[in-house]
Order: sequence, then structure tokens, then C-alpha cells
Amino acid sequence: MRELTQKNLVFGLTGGVACYKIAELVRRTKDLGASVDVVMTSAAEQFITPVTMQALSGRPVFSNIWDSRPNDNMAHIQLSRQADAILIAPASTDFIAKLAHGFADDLLSTLCVARGNCPLLVAPAMNREMWAHPATQRNIQQLREDGVIILGPGHGDQACGEFGDGRMLEPDQLLSEIRAFFQPKLLKGKKVLITAGPTSEAIDPVRVITNRSSGKMGYALAQAAREAGAEVELVSGPVNLAAPYAVQRISVESARDMHKAVMQRAPHSDVFIAVAAVADWYVTNASDQKLKKNQTQDSPQLEFAPNPDILAEVAALADRPFCVGFAAETEQLLSFAEAKRRRKNIPLLVGNLAQRAMHADDTELVIFDEQGHDAWPATDKLTAARKLIQRIALQLEP
Ligand code: CTP
Repeated sequence: MRELTQKNLVFGLTGGVACYKIAELVRRTKDLGASVDVVMTSAAEQFITPVTMQALSGRPVFSNIWDSRPNDNMAHIQLSRQADAILIAPASTDFIAKLAHGFADDLLSTLCVARGNCPLLVAPAMNREMWAHPATQRNIQQLREDGVIILGPGHGDQACGEFGDGRMLEPDQLLSEIRAFFQPKLLKGKKVLITAGPTSEAIDPVRVITNRSSGKMGYALAQAAREAGAEVELVSGPVNLAAPYAVQRISVESARDMHKAVMQRAPHSDVFIAVAAVADWYVTNASDQKLKKNQTQDSPQLEFAPNPDILAEVAALADRPFCVGFAAETEQLLSFAEAKRRRKNIPLLVGNLAQRAMHADDTELVIFDEQGHDAWPATDKLTAARKLIQRIALQLEP
């Protein structure tokens, strides 16, 4: 999905070792369809060459305010007028101080002052003491008050050998922030709780009963909810997926673990989306030791008891969040899914055919609510998730 097609971005590089990471970011942003203009300070040119950035962006790189290539020598005006956003990364201590005070003594700082309404995103990168310095913190606070979006910084090992706050976010994190920036903030200030993936029911310490859910839809929804400005908690069964950036993942194994984690959080959530394929039963006579096949002639006799219905329990809370369920059916989708929505007493249920949904990257959803149902065309899961978040936001409005 080339979701940044027709977006014009300006990446401003200032002096910092993290400049090399922006080479990767330019490539990945371009892969999503964006056009990227790179502007460098002379300090940035000490860390990476304009030639590299030009080769990766496929466009001329600007660093000199007296550059005669743009019309009327006005690179500082031209570049910002065409841009949908400007990202300063890495943003050095010095450059942040310049931005906070409106200095305009080189092309990049002049461009920022001249940018008008063009949004500015800043990813600080510096030593932990420089980040903690009261002047830097004052400048960052000033930038926030001026409407600048501060990305990070991260925490960890630093190029100088020290450890702490001040690392620039990684390229994939910056890319997540850029993608999120272009999504409408429909769930700003809302808390969203999501279950995802399969559950896993122990038979003995090495054997489990599970199902084929990949977790992709639940993870896509967590990403989409976060992009929409929500604070997201993702209670996830065992899956092979990285947690979406800036989403809090709570990893669980069994349905009863998932139930516990959800019931602790649901009363404080505005929205609950149950995407997990929860096992209906657990094994009551699970063994503490590995079952050995030579201990008995017969096959093991497993006994089962029902797991709690997490969604139905959350929906029954006195002060319940807005509840959304999923139904993966193998047949009679329309009648089974609507019956499930009523049985679980929830306003919105998303149905799909299990044969098509499991492990696939695309999905074809049917949305059920009080008014009836609505079949959406097949799309990739992130596009479907963003559309569903818009639908939820619409129904949340008083
Ligand atoms: N669900 C849940 N807890 C369970 C079972 C299901 O929270 N113990 C949620 C799922 O996350 C999903 C919805 O309920 O949002 C429907 O799940 P599904 O397995 O399709 O429904 P069941 O209630 O198990 O019904 P059936 O087995 O008859 O299809």
C-alpha cells in the first residue's frame, strides 16, 4: 500500500551521528510513495554526504541559503510552500535552540521560520546530559507551545558511550510517526482496549491446544487506533508479530489469562474491540508433568470446561466501554454473525469468513449494527482497520 502517494515531505538533517539513519528513512518513505526533499545544515554534512541523500531521495539536496538553483534563490520559500510536513531529524541541541528562538541564519532554520502553516515535526538526538539540560527542556517546552510535534527521544545506548534519554527514534519508529501524522485524530484522548491472536490451552508443560489465528487484524486495529490518537492496550495471545509502535502490549497465553488482563482494564477503557480467537474450552485435567506415551496403553483422556466469554462479560459491565466484536464464521455468515451480535448484546460486530481471514493479508468484512449490515470490499487489513476505527469514532459521538 503506497499510502504516502502525493505527500511532499521535507527532511531537515542537522549535526548528529544519527544522520546515517535518515538515509534508510528516506528510502522507506519513498517506498510508500512520498516525494522527499532533503535539506542539510553544514554540520549534517560532516556526518553524511549530500550525494548519498540525493541518490536516495532522487532529488537535489539543498544546504546553502545562497543556492542559485531554485527560482529567485528562494529555496527557503519554495521548499516549505510545497511541503505537507517538515521533519527535522536528527535535531541537534543547537538547532532546537535556534528553532525555539526563531533564528534564521542558514537555509534550514530560515525555511522553518518561513514555513507558515506547514506542520513541523522534530526528532531530537543528543547526549543525555544535553537533553536533560534546563535550557534544552525550556526550548522543547517552547516548541510544544508553538505547535511543533516532538518525536521521542528514545532511551538507550548513546553514540558517546553513555546510556539514557536523547537517542533519536529508529527509522521504523519515525516512519510510524509520519504515517500516523497523516491520519485524522478521531480517537484523541480515548482509551482503546483490544484483544488479538489465538489463545493457547495447556495439556501439559509442552503441549497446547490453540487455533490458526495470526493476530494480524487485531494488530492492524491497534496500529490504526493509535494513529487515530488513542491510548492503546493490546492484550495478545501468542503470535509472531512485533507490537505496533507506541502500543502497550500485554502478552497472555490462555483464555483465562486473557480474561483476567481484560477485566482489569475494561472499566477504564472507552472502547473494547475483541478480535482474539478465544478458545471455548480449557483442559481441566492438564498434567503438571509431560505426558509420556509409554506410561499408559490408552490415549490420554482430556476433560474440558468452558472458558469465560470475555466480550459478553465486558458488555455486561454496568459502565461498559463501547464494545465491538468479531465473528469468523465458516458458513451462513449473515445469520450467524447477527445472532452473535444480539446474543453478546453489543452495538457493533464485524463478520468475516474464517477460510478467507486466517493468516491472509487481505480481508473482506461485513459490519453488523442495529440498522442492519454493510459489506465492505476486500482490502489489506490496515486499510480495513482504519475504516473500522472511523466507523467506531462515528458511533462514539454523542
Ligand atoms: N470472544 C470472547 N471470549 C470468548 C469467546 C469469544 O471475547 N470466550 C469474542 C471474540 O473475541 C469475538 C466474539 O467474541 O469478538 C465472537 O467470537 P467467536 O469465537 O466467533 O464466538 P463464540 O462466542 O465462541 O461462538 P461460536 O463458537 O458459536 O462461533
